[in-house]
Amino acid sequence: MAPKFTPRVFSGIQPSGGLTLGNYLGALKRFVRMQDEGMETIYCIVDLHAITVWQEPAKLRAQTREAAAAFIAAGIDPKRSILFNQSQVPAHAELAWIFNCVARVGWMNRMTQFKDKAGRNAENASLGLYAYPSLMAADILVYHATHVPVGEDQKQHLELTRDIAAKFNHDYGVEFFPLTEPVIEGAATRVMSLRDGTVKMSKSDPSDQSRINLTDDADAIAQKIRKARTDPAPLPETLDGLKDRPEARNLVNIYAALADRAPAEVLAEFAGQGFGVFKPRLAELAVAVLSPISAEMKRLAADPAEIDRILGDGANRAEAIARPILERTHDIVGMIRSR
Ligand code: TYM
Repeated sequence: MAPKFTPRVFSGIQPSGGLTLGNYLGALKRFVRMQDEGMETIYCIVDLHAITVWQEPAKLRAQTREAAAAFIAAGIDPKRSILFNQSQVPAHAELAWIFNCVARVGWMNRMTQFKDKAGRNAENASLGLYAYPSLMAADILVYHATHVPVGEDQKQHLELTRDIAAKFNHDYGVEFFPLTEPVIEGAATRVMSLRDGTVKMSKSDPSDQSRINLTDDADAIAQKIRKARTDPAPLPETLDGLKDRPEARNLVNIYAALADRAPAEVLAEFAGQGFGVFKPRLAELAVAVLSPISAEMKRLAADPAEIDRILGDGANRAEAIARPILERTHDIVGMIRSR
């Protein structure tokens, strides 16, 4: 029988660019809900992950603070949740090394995100990019986290996290690491590009028109939605009718997630209407939800010292949980601790 682990939520976001509507709906908004439901929540801006692809140092610092501002503006309360940047808690990187010795090369070779990111030039990708999923497993397991809210694109990494936990437990004959549950729920676990409904909305897409950034103003949001690719047919009555219409389905899902409604309900309201009607309503809704967030991000950005203080305080509280778990790991593995 596996021991019971106390429910604990962990998740992370890379500061490798500005955050998008995909990050907000697929991750941040759901992070806030779990915090507000009273769960113990630990949220991390994963700067060590970001440098698996080269980052200009001053930009990395600015993007880390901007991501912290986005968390807070979206509703993360740094007193109720722990909010920090990964590099301030070295236990992540230390456990990742041990996991590098647990995970198999064959497992890493199956990671589709590495293949996507490294592209045809995999020989020239950083070793960090290849080992990335092992650090991600350490992020989660160094807190014995049981629940990890993420978007659909992180599913394979979370399966690997479970594989690493299971192999560690098996190899050392312990029930030490929990088998973490991915939490992938709601209408917006995979928000797609506004230019192409078959690819994910991403901060790294070269076209700014493909995404809504959390820092976009009302005009930019409305303009991007107006220009979003669609098809000429009106909205159908049922979800079935969206099957082969990825762009239409994406906009309906975005509307549903922003409005906290089911996609079927959105269709019930708009069935038979064209995008000439739907898009302005979607733009209005997106502006109503996102404007207060971007205004609050701007306000917070004016005081970077306060953001750094919040991240430092979060790192201290994260360290207090992670350090003892790392020490117990060292004991299990057979490392001497004599200081
Ligand atoms: P990252 O920084 O790419 O994305 C952060 C979170 O946003 C979600 N997301 C999306 N959700 C829906 N639609 C989209 N278009 C979209 N784009 C991004 C992601 O699924 C993610 O939940 N490896 C992770 C960061 C990480 C992490 C962790 C996550 C590092 N350690 C431990 C959870 C637990 C990443 O690169 O996310």
